[in-house]
Amino acid sequence: MAEIKLPEVELNIYSPKNPVEVTVVENYVVTLEASPNFVRHITFDISGTDLENRVRIGQSIGILPPGQDSKGREHKLRLYSVSSPTSGERGKPHLISTTVKRTIEEFEEKIYLGVASNYLSDLKPGDKVKMTGPSGRRFLLPENAEDFNYLFFATGTGIAPFRGMIMELFEKGDYKNECALIFGCPYRTDLLYPAFFNEMDQKHSNFHYLPNISREDRRPDGSKYYVQTKIEDEKELLYPILRQDNTLVYICGLKGMESGIYLELLKQGLSDYVEIKKELPENLNDIPRGDFKKFVKPSVRTFEEVY
Ligand code: A2P
Repeated sequence: MAEIKLPEVELNIYSPKNPVEVTVVENYVVTLEASPNFVRHITFDISGTDLENRVRIGQSIGILPPGQDSKGREHKLRLYSVSSPTSGERGKPHLISTTVKRTIEEFEEKIYLGVASNYLSDLKPGDKVKMTGPSGRRFLLPENAEDFNYLFFATGTGIAPFRGMIMELFEKGDYKNECALIFGCPYRTDLLYPAFFNEMDQKHSNFHYLPNISREDRRPDGSKYYVQTKIEDEKELLYPILRQDNTLVYICGLKGMESGIYLELLKQGLSDYVEIKKELPENLNDIPRGDFKKFVKPSVRTFEEVY
């Protein structure tokens, strides 16, 4: 296997005590028009700051929302994955983007709005934002990125880093290995950046866009389409890729999705992607799903960021 050389990264150039002020340049919805959920692509101008050219795709930035919580304390920092490639949004190193879902919850007949996500979602071009970071030292593309195949598994806004990683892999035009994006969302209207990924799929025979719509479609056995079911459902495409020793798996999104993926990989005999911590029972289905992480952890070929 080619050696996986992860790049050296700089961490917390700006800390919560010493944030930097950056300017919003754009803020637009990336779901289809009819979606009741609002997920936005927000781009910041970081020119003149020490973040320029020093944030890598896969890392996160911190946002400090203004104001205080109900107990009068300053709002805490929230981390958001960067969704623009290392070279910057549209190739401009002074532009950096993130992908934000407006969170709205109802509890005991009261509506709660997520503080940071709604603050970010309401921003207009020209508005100033306090930013920290970057953070994250492992969920990165290797320096020798073009030597590998990639299976990117994302649920919801977990797609953010993969947008940038896919742009980065294909931007020079000489990427020859295989790359698949396996994306999960509840309804068709929740597909994120669908035009971009469909276009990439059509343009590049070595890029495969595999969406899974969990609440509209059903597999022949009646179960839901989840990202991990694609390992079985697209076996002809994915199995030969997963069998190669230069393939890396990246997982980003809902906590719990990683267990389903590890279980499916093990069922298919693809044990190189997980490290066994504790002896597994003969029947993998005997392990309660919540306990799966007691038995396995990501191997050197697997990268996970779940929340
Ligand atoms: P569902 O909620 O139908 O069970 P979003 O962040 O936009 O809500 O999308 C998250 C997607 O991930 C949904 O399709 C959701 O399906 C799916 N999902 C929920 N739990 C898991 C899990 N443990 N493994 C994989 N996918 C999951």
